[in-house]
Amino acid sequence: MLGQKKEIIMAVETSCDETAVAILAEGEKLLSNLVASQIKVHQQFGGVVPEIASRKHLEQINRLISLALEEARLTFTELSALAVTYGPGLVGALLVGVSTVKALAYSLQLPLLGINHLEGHLYANWLVHKDMEFPLVGLIVSGGHTALIEMRGHGEYLLLGQTQDDAAGEAYDKVARAMGLGYPGGPLLDALAREGDGKALDLPRAWLGEDNYDFSFSGLKTAVLNYLNRAVLKGEKINQADLAASFQASVVEVLVEKTVRVAQKKGLKSVLMAGGVSANSFLREEMEKRCQTEGLKLYYPPVEFCTDNAAMIACAAHYHYLKGEYADWDLNAVPQLRLY
Ligand code: KG4
Ligand code: ZN
Repeated sequence: MLGQKKEIIMAVETSCDETAVAILAEGEKLLSNLVASQIKVHQQFGGVVPEIASRKHLEQINRLISLALEEARLTFTELSALAVTYGPGLVGALLVGVSTVKALAYSLQLPLLGINHLEGHLYANWLVHKDMEFPLVGLIVSGGHTALIEMRGHGEYLLLGQTQDDAAGEAYDKVARAMGLGYPGGPLLDALAREGDGKALDLPRAWLGEDNYDFSFSGLKTAVLNYLNRAVLKGEKINQADLAASFQASVVEVLVEKTVRVAQKKGLKSVLMAGGVSANSFLREEMEKRCQTEGLKLYYPPVEFCTDNAAMIACAAHYHYLKGEYADWDLNAVPQLRLY
């Protein structure tokens, strides 16, 4: 309508090792999407060091916010609302985003939206797939979480199964570290596996029973560690690509089978994937094949929206903004925040 203010949301994400700021107009047009990755800093320690992550967020956040506005050719006064990830994640890292955004929203007297990081991952799909229909089965696979959920509408989450130990991304990172590949392990193993034979090694798959939609990756991780240790003791040289491919075959088979089975059991026709591990090329291929054979629609975000970013937080925020679900000024970081 003429004269009506456009909905423009700025979102900030600092839950782990990426400082990210995005500006989204009308829930679909990305005016800016900036991610300052700290990976290089943490690589030398083999994983994320929480204190360093918080410090790096502090160093980057103001610069990124200014840059995002500049890129979008906007001033603060043109924003409709400010959104921030308030959990789950590292407490010190989350606090940088939460306190910065709260201060901004308060001083600008703009609505404040507190967003669950996992909800953000799911909503990365709504940035690009406008035709998704409920009900959906969602597979969340990230560095900290692995779960199957049912979504019957925006903001409605029913837990169907989750990992009993390691998250899928965590298993990737730990196995890559043991193989001496570096951090983060997911993309490195993904690439290496393409040169190997996934049937070379018979690694375990944790099915946990017929109608069970939980996951367990610690047995697989231990099997890989034992294999590596045995090779060292015997002085044998291992084929890294075959090991990567066999490990990946095991993870992906379980993720795909459980997702498809639960969709069938619940009579749900659409599947969406979210989180860093949904960037995995083999998982995408296998899930595509299985969903096609079973007549299921499959959605996943482009790779840059699978791993941590603020565009997905802005997209989730858009749906809360439409419902007027604003946070209070006492919004705080909640490291163990739950979605389901
Ligand atoms: O969603 P995300 O960026 O952060 C969390 O919320 O945890 O996920 C990071 C995880 C890491 O464990 C990383 O190794 C994994 O996602 N990852 C991948 C790939 N890209 C990132 N895992 C497998 N294959 C990939 N291509
Ligand atoms: Zn994430």
